[in-house]
Order: sequence, then structure tokens, then C-alpha cells
Amino acid sequence: MSAMTGDASGSTPRTARLTVADIGRMHADGQRLATVTAYDYPTARLADAAGIPLVLVGDSLAQVVLGYETTVRITLDEMLHHTRAVVRGTSRALVVGDMPFLTYPDEAGALGAAGRFLQEGGAQAVKVEGGVRTARVVETLVRNGVPVMGHIGLTPQAIHAIGKFRVQGKTREQARSLLGDALAIQEAGAFAIVLELLPAQLAEAITQRLRIPTIGIGSGPGCDGQIQVLTDLLGLSLDRPPRHVRRYATLGETARDALVAYAADVEAGTFPGDAETVRMDDAVLADVLGLSALDRAADGEPGIIGGIPLDRDL
Ligand code: KIV
Repeated sequence: MSAMTGDASGSTPRTARLTVADIGRMHADGQRLATVTAYDYPTARLADAAGIPLVLVGDSLAQVVLGYETTVRITLDEMLHHTRAVVRGTSRALVVGDMPFLTYPDEAGALGAAGRFLQEGGAQAVKVEGGVRTARVVETLVRNGVPVMGHIGLTPQAIHAIGKFRVQGKTREQARSLLGDALAIQEAGAFAIVLELLPAQLAEAITQRLRIPTIGIGSGPGCDGQIQVLTDLLGLSLDRPPRHVRRYATLGETARDALVAYAADVEAGTFPGDAETVRMDDAVLADVLGLSALDRAADGEPGIIGGIPLDRDL
């Protein structure tokens, strides 16, 4: 694996960024792939510090960070702005940029948007939603040197068409079609595929039939890896999370309680206290304000107002 490389002298090893080949090797070695979303420099640094190998700048950014109602609203420029921050915040994780709604309607459009993710955003790969319908776009991107992660099942960019966030693939017809979608994305050359909100048995069956790693969200334990929206996993929101989320922290409550305590301290005049305050030599200030014995004696003389000599540099 190319994760550790030496410097010119060969002495100090440094961490190098993972590649899609590394991810493939981890998968071949049987390592389950812990994946999270990150949206900015601090969350990216946290993910990298935790040793997360795959970080997605998901278009869930639209909802969980920017407050839009759906992911449909986010633009390519907004995604790039956040992708750059995530890339700056990571040195090891492979960063995947999520191509927003309608930026890959055809091959030319997809190449333009993906090119911006890699060149301007600094991402190492992109993610696109859709199965058979997106396979040709995936093939073109891969042929042009853009590593692609697929995404099937519940595809949030299609929310206005599907109407509601619900498990996909429970009927024979849907399950058959999702299996076809997964195979099409693999054959198009994707290095991994997200399976969102699939029944566990279907996700496991797809996983067993693919060579590339499946990354599940709300699709049970039978996938090769899992992805979670970082704000869900850390409990950063005070809202109730979706059923598939396991909260590993309740940072939203911790943060709210901290803010309540801060406001109370400010209102009571107990913040800042001695520990957060810098003081100066009182004699220096007395001198500046014209409160020294010399100044007091001269008060009332021309050029001295309220004890402050005006020729002094204030
Ligand atoms: O945008 C996102 O966060 C995603 C993941 C949930 C897979 O697409």
C-alpha cells in the first residue's frame, strides 16, 4: 500500500494520500471500509485524525450545513468551495466530491463538472447517482482518468420524482432493477458503489455479486463498508436522526449546553474572569490618562485637559 512514503533522505516516513488502488487493496484484504461525509476543514481534519480512509463531500451538505430543503438546491460552485476545504483538512483520506443535481446529464457535462472537482476542488474522485441510466457517464469519466463512486437505491437528487425517502428494492421488479444497476455501474468502471436504503438481504446479495466494494447506508451489515452523514454520527443536530443512524456522540446537546452556560456567564459578568484576562502595569495606564502626581499638579494649565497632556501620543 502506498499510504506511507519516505522523504528524500529515506528517514522520516510521512503519510501519503490513499488512492483508489489502495481502497481496492483494502477491500481485497477483507477490510471493511469506514466512510463518512465531511463538509469543511475542521470536520475533514477530524475524519483524517480518526484514520477514516474514504471521505465524501456529500451533497447532503445542502441540507445539513447550508439549510436547503433538498440536495437539489446546491450548486457546483458551492460544492467546490467545500471540497477545497475538505481537501485542505485531509492528508491521508481519499476525498470524493459529490456531483450535484444536473451536472452530469450527458458525457460532456459530466466531464466538465468532474474536471472541476479534480482540478479546482482537489478531490481524487467523484460520486454520481443512478444505475443503468448513468453507466455511460461513469464509463466516460473513468476512461478519462476520473475515478468514480456510484450511488444506487435511494438517490436523494431524484426526490422530486420519487416523492419520499423510503427503502428501495422491496418488490421483485425493483430488486431486479437494482441488481442490474449495480452490475452496470461496476462494468462501467466505478471503483466503489454506495447502496442507500436497500433491504439488508438485497444489499448483501448485490455485495456478493460485485467485485468492487459496496458502501452501505441504511442497507444493513452485509455491505463491504458503511457511510454515515457526519452530523448524524456525531449527533450534531438536535433533530431526531433517521432510523439507520447510530449516534456515537451527542455534540449538538453538548454545544447547546455550552452556549447556554456561556450566555449565563456573560449576563452575570463572570466571563471573562481572571484566567481569560490580560492586565497591564497600572502605573503605565495612570501615566497615559494623566493621573500621575506630575499630571495632577499640572491640571488646568494650557494644553492639559482633564489631566491628560495633549502633547502625549495617545
Ligand atoms: O450526500 C451524501 O451525504 C451522500 C451519502 C449519504 C451517501 O450521498
